[in-house]
Amino acid sequence: MFRLIVVLIWSVAGGLSAESERTFPPGFKFGVGTSSYQIEGGWNADGKGESIWDRFTHQHPEKIEDRSTGDTACDSYHQWRRDVEMIKELGVDIYRFSIAWARIMPSGLSNRVNEKGIQYYNDLIDGLLQAGITPAVTLYHFDLPQRLEDLGGWLTPDIVQHFLDYANVAFENYGDRVQMWTTFNEPWYICESSYGTDGLAPALNFPGVADYVCGHNILKAHAEVVHLYREKYQTQQKGIIGISLDARWVEPASDSFDDLEASEWSLQFNMGWFGHPIFSAEGDYPQIMKDRIGNLSAEQGFKRSRLPSFTEAEIERIKGTSDFFGLNTYTLRLASKNDEQNSANFEIPSNDHDAGAVLTIDPEWPSADTDWIKIVPSGLKNLLNWVKKEFDNSPTWVTENGVGTAVGTVDLQRVQYYNGYLNAVLDAMEDGCDVRGYMAWSLMDNFEWRAGYTSKFGLFHVDFNDPNRKRYGKMSAKVYKRIIETRKIDESYLPQPDVVISEARIHSSFSLSIILGLFAVFLLSCLIFKV
Ligand code: NOJ
Repeated sequence: MFRLIVVLIWSVAGGLSAESERTFPPGFKFGVGTSSYQIEGGWNADGKGESIWDRFTHQHPEKIEDRSTGDTACDSYHQWRRDVEMIKELGVDIYRFSIAWARIMPSGLSNRVNEKGIQYYNDLIDGLLQAGITPAVTLYHFDLPQRLEDLGGWLTPDIVQHFLDYANVAFENYGDRVQMWTTFNEPWYICESSYGTDGLAPALNFPGVADYVCGHNILKAHAEVVHLYREKYQTQQKGIIGISLDARWVEPASDSFDDLEASEWSLQFNMGWFGHPIFSAEGDYPQIMKDRIGNLSAEQGFKRSRLPSFTEAEIERIKGTSDFFGLNTYTLRLASKNDEQNSANFEIPSNDHDAGAVLTIDPEWPSADTDWIKIVPSGLKNLLNWVKKEFDNSPTWVTENGVGTAVGTVDLQRVQYYNGYLNAVLDAMEDGCDVRGYMAWSLMDNFEWRAGYTSKFGLFHVDFNDPNRKRYGKMSAKVYKRIIETRKIDESYLPQPDVVISEARIHSSFSLSIILGLFAVFLLSCLIFKV
């Protein structure tokens, strides 16, 4: 309620600033994204196998903030037609979603393909195409089949062949209609959170060792799948294939040489770890990673570097294996050099310690309701410029960007976030960054991993108490739609959602808007006449 009043006063007062004259160029594409485990539900429906997230949430409810699971999530396994309607309503060109490996290959292995699972994605893809929306498919978004985890998951080199078998099934079944493929969503986060720390499933918590093994196998698996696509499918199917890397911009804490270096190192140990082997001219891990991890490993008594090494042939095989640079980003941090005294801040060994940077937050930065996100749009502009400099201005897609807020359809914070971050994309394009498209995260509120349903990233609200998981457009959905339609950002556009929902209360916005409108006029009169 309070938010709506603020919005009304704001709109009556004429909004914050004028409409921008800058426009997104004609070829620039807009999209919106989701991922299988976060929205589908149907965790064991129609022959689907168990994934590491099914196992994790069932066995460790205490690790999820609200003790929830993705068993039903947004029920997109049954409600996908409504999803297509919503995507169409937004007016986006592209819908980015992921395939649940265990839905189409229950154990993850090549011996059995689940026809009902295949059918589900066939229906979704056909539904999207009929609605004029381009499907963009991610092969891996965190939900490994549990049986493959039992074999060692991303820590065993065998996973490369299994991933290749799975990709082959996906290309064979869907490649005739899918024009954009992503092999992995956020390999840094997968390896750091699933294997390096107690974060994502299976939460192995083996920092500084398991994370680098995971990264090594993921890079090889990615490269093999891209080669498969290029050799066997691309000429006929005519799609593009790439990878989405996650990063936060890292601002030097001061102008000192040390802090500048710390910021650069932090970026290299995050985005460079996966970006350099694929996108740089020379390939392989960044030199600073090889040097620092090699030296620290020796000091720590390891017989060899904790960072595995590639052969010359592997370096060549991985280099150039992406048709686009996918960037997922939400926020930023400050970096200062990690001197000896500060080593106590970190697990030793760990990727954080290896990176040699202490990351902090400027208390002046505005915080989102989801408090790891600090809202500073220039971070996106800086990051895009870093990608441009580092990777020879590779064609870039912002494949994820968005903000977590409290529940409800009056999501002013998300509106401001998108206005700000899309302006930053325009700034970066003016700087010469080759940005081809932008995909908002996420289509609707969904299962936010360890945060369960407590953190809402959607353009649509989902009623998780309704067995059909009814969806309602938020204010931000209207704003995003308007940006796509007009191809420009109008910060004074603050529409009301069709249905006002806050803290589980649902009102028809018509009657409510009359009451709130009168109240806003009353408040404004008080302000003007200083009553
Ligand atoms: C990145 C992940 O890809 C996505 O699954 C998650 O919901 C968002 N970040 C927000 O945390």
